Amino acid sequence: MPTTESAPVTIPDFARWKAEGRKIGVLTAYDYTLARMLDGAGVDCLLVGDTLGMVVQGRATTLGVTLDQMVYHAEMVARGAERALVVADLPFGSYQGSPEQAIASATRFLKETQCQAVKLEGGGRMAATIRALVAADIPVMGHVGLTPQSIRRLGGFKVQRDEDQILADAHAVADAGAFAVVLECVPTEVAARVTREVPIATIGIGAGPDCDGQVLVTPDLLGLFEGFRPRFVRRYADLGEPIRQAARDYVADVQAGRFPAAGESFR
Ligand code: KIV
Repeated sequence: MPTTESAPVTIPDFARWKAEGRKIGVLTAYDYTLARMLDGAGVDCLLVGDTLGMVVQGRATTLGVTLDQMVYHAEMVARGAERALVVADLPFGSYQGSPEQAIASATRFLKETQCQAVKLEGGGRMAATIRALVAADIPVMGHVGLTPQSIRRLGGFKVQRDEDQILADAHAVADAGAFAVVLECVPTEVAARVTREVPIATIGIGAGPDCDGQVLVTPDLLGLFEGFRPRFVRRYADLGEPIRQAARDYVADVQAGRFPAAGESFR
């Protein structure tokens, strides 16, 4: 059943929802039109993910996405969100240098867009940076397990199975003050243990059903991104073919002189 709550989602809601066992629905968004639809459908949190590098820009990885591009998309998404909390990804190279660099990058999102929080990848090694951001009043969502910005070091998009490492990373992110943590591509039992043991909300993607919330990449959910389909994606719609058919019908009508009709023209 979709939510009927209408008050804008805030950071403290994540802790409350975890305590109440109320699951959190997160989707990615990259533009105003879809953000408005997803927000109106009751999605709790819109993540302006750097996956836009792959599903919008057509790159093989997220590494080439720039901070300017993320700010541009975050601004559009935030304008379309009335209720959902909007979180923007800090892209590769915009925060790993130092806590000061992270604060400067993240500040752009809160100043230049209406988004309310940032997400960054990494566990223990990012704890000092998360702590500095939170001390600067910038809410942080962490991201551990498979971290796509580490693709060169990890050697591919693979399930992460080192339970001790994942648990230590999630604890480090929580201890540093993050309000939630994404668990990507980790075994169900590991995600369940992290969810039981860390005090902040866990948002799973490829992490089984026991997380406090779930996130999917919206073009995957809608069947718009046809590049590849990870096992954890459930397609709730298959919009690729209807879009192709609409375009075919349009071209055929233009070529046959059926479009525009009199009622679609001015006198
Ligand atoms: O960039 C992104 O969209 C993400 C989600 C897949 C969690 O990080």
